[in-house]
Amino acid sequence: MPKAVRVHEYGGPEVLRYEDVDVGEPDIGEVLLRHTAIGLNYADIHTRNGRYPLPHFPHVIGGEGCGVVEALGADVTNVAVGDRVAYSSGGHALLRGSYCELRTMNAERLVKLPSDITDETAAAMITKGLTAQYLIHDSHPVTEQDAILVHSAAGGVGMIIAQWARTFGAHVIGVVSSEEKAAFATNHGCHDVIVSTKENIAEQAKTLTSGEGVTAVFDAVGADTFESSLAALRPLGRLVAYGSSSGPVPPFDIFRLNEMGSLSITAGAFYWHMRTGDEIRSRAKSLFDVVSSGAVKININQRFALADVADAHRAMEARSTIGMTVMSP
Ligand SMILES: NC(=O)c1ccc[n+]([C@@H]2O[C@H](COP(=O)([O-])OP(=O)(O)OC[C@H]3O[C@@H](n4cnc5c(N)ncnc54)[C@H](OP(=O)(O)O)[C@@H]3O)[C@@H](O)[C@H]2O)c1
Repeated sequence: MPKAVRVHEYGGPEVLRYEDVDVGEPDIGEVLLRHTAIGLNYADIHTRNGRYPLPHFPHVIGGEGCGVVEALGADVTNVAVGDRVAYSSGGHALLRGSYCELRTMNAERLVKLPSDITDETAAAMITKGLTAQYLIHDSHPVTEQDAILVHSAAGGVGMIIAQWARTFGAHVIGVVSSEEKAAFATNHGCHDVIVSTKENIAEQAKTLTSGEGVTAVFDAVGADTFESSLAALRPLGRLVAYGSSSGPVPPFDIFRLNEMGSLSITAGAFYWHMRTGDEIRSRAKSLFDVVSSGAVKININQRFALADVADAHRAMEARSTIGMTVMSP
């Protein structure tokens, strides 16, 4: 029988169980997909520990993967048997389930891969890259007029935002927690890097922008960084809040934004920017083009076997991962 990693209860990495599963046949509009590579996302930790509720137990978690189509259900026309495809669940509970060898999957969410995008690269970047795509094109359309602050700049989403925004001519300032990550961020898009364990983020952001502050902050850290992100902005600046690696942001009086310089906040969510197959494919083309051009590098620094997924979770929670992490089924 095929193997999968399921959780039967919320908890730490020890609740991840590598076990046999019954996959079944693809339903109408679905394909049977054999994974070749599986991406690791910080959101997987939230689904494992209950921050993002699961619809039922046991549950195969995991939000992104790449594989080969093995069989088609009825009415599937956009892919064929043998196609190499990738997908992101986009945080949608019913589409999760990439921690496995074989799965059924909604065909409409699949993206066919160009020949120059490897399976590992696709699995590593499809969620993080599509997230970066909508954040810098829609949540805050970055231009050469911008000076932006990118939190977790040596992390998966952050390293793509930094590199891609730089191609638009923006001044890119990264935030990381160690000197090792600072070196990585400097090689992946950042003109300047703030080391959060040694420097005051808002003060440094102002210093690096001649006292003005940045025009936008891309923040997926949440609780720990919310106040410093606001303080780093110049008048009319925008905070793009799209995650909470350190915990959720506490309740907030919106009229503080008035006093701080008529600031704005937007809360980015993947699913609302990727509601149709056409939208996914159009944004994926934009991602594949920028990666194929070499302007955005997808640096895979950690590799694990799916059976060792608990080690991958421990590494990510300990903040010891740099760049992308991929698992092989
Ligand atoms: N809204 C959306 O559409 C969307 C889509 C995809 C992902 N996300 C979110 O984007 C974020 C990044 O995801 P990712 O998969 O690319 O992860 P990642 O950035 O590779 O890893 C998380 C990073 O967060 C930083 N961090 C800061 N405080 C932390 C804490 N208390 N505990 C752990 N890490 C902490 C660490 O970097 P430093 O050590 O350098 O601080 C760590 O490396 C996650 O919050 C995820 O949920 C949102």
